[in-house]
Amino acid sequence: MRRRPQLVPWKAAGRITEQQSSGDEVVRQTGWVFNNETGDDLTLEQFVATGDQEVAPYLTVFGFRTPEIENETMVEIGCGIGRMTCAFTREYGEVIACDLDLGFLERTRETVSRFGKIDRLRTVHVADGHHLDLPPNRADLAFSYITLQHCNPDDALELSSEAVRVTRPGGSIALNYRARGRGDVILLPLGGLIRAMFRIPKFGPWLSRQRWAARLGWQANRLHPNEVVGPLSPLLKDVTVWRNPKSHITGEGAAVGTFEGINRHHYWVTAEVR
Ligand SMILES: C[S@@+](CC[C@H](N)C(=O)[O-])C[C@H]1O[C@@H](n2cnc3c(N)ncnc32)[C@H](O)[C@@H]1O
Repeated sequence: MRRRPQLVPWKAAGRITEQQSSGDEVVRQTGWVFNNETGDDLTLEQFVATGDQEVAPYLTVFGFRTPEIENETMVEIGCGIGRMTCAFTREYGEVIACDLDLGFLERTRETVSRFGKIDRLRTVHVADGHHLDLPPNRADLAFSYITLQHCNPDDALELSSEAVRVTRPGGSIALNYRARGRGDVILLPLGGLIRAMFRIPKFGPWLSRQRWAARLGWQANRLHPNEVVGPLSPLLKDVTVWRNPKSHITGEGAAVGTFEGINRHHYWVTAEVR
């Protein structure tokens, strides 16, 4: 079994969310895990609204909002506590929300029951951080946002391959990654150091609950689009690398798409599965 210290802070945050009394409290105290915000005035409703504001443009820009959408199934890899899942359940007939933390999945069910369509939701525990417990061709779309950048490179590539496996031929993938930037010369080694420290008895578990340490520890990979698409290219067609207009990242053999809503440090790979 590979050591996966990058999973430690997610599980630590998941344990904290289990102790909190409501989704609102989770957002106030642990919301930084998902969108780097906390504050006594925050509510779960506002938190979900930030997901709503992102889901609609992405589905539109990527061309997924077709008349058939209500009869389709989508898989969300790394759902957190359901920030975007609520909006997905309002669009898709079935949403399979996947996350490595069981506490987050429980909160996702609660969030969707308040702000989405709970009868359309299924959850899947990604117990090992790299395998989706789903049969092949199960979904019309596999989607992942702000998750693969936090996995070690092997897990990110395996989850990308899993996204393709669970999507039917003719279906689509939309996967989000973080591109290499200048600050990574410092951030990546620091992230590695912090993750090594998560292993120290007593100190490590405390450290993994600190916001600054968790955020550094999550700096786990910067995959280039060619590393992602290369091994999958026989299984894909119409590959597009989407980026902010101010970013320059491209992928070999991939079309380029731009959208102002994309974080300048991120990119997306969309493609049709053969
Ligand atoms: C920054 S949060 C983003 C959640 C959600 N996509 C959103 O935008 O609110 C990343 C999520 O990915 C999950 N995650 C991290 N590594 C994972 C892995 N290897 N497999 C499945 N989920 C993972 C974490 O538990 C966390 O819930």
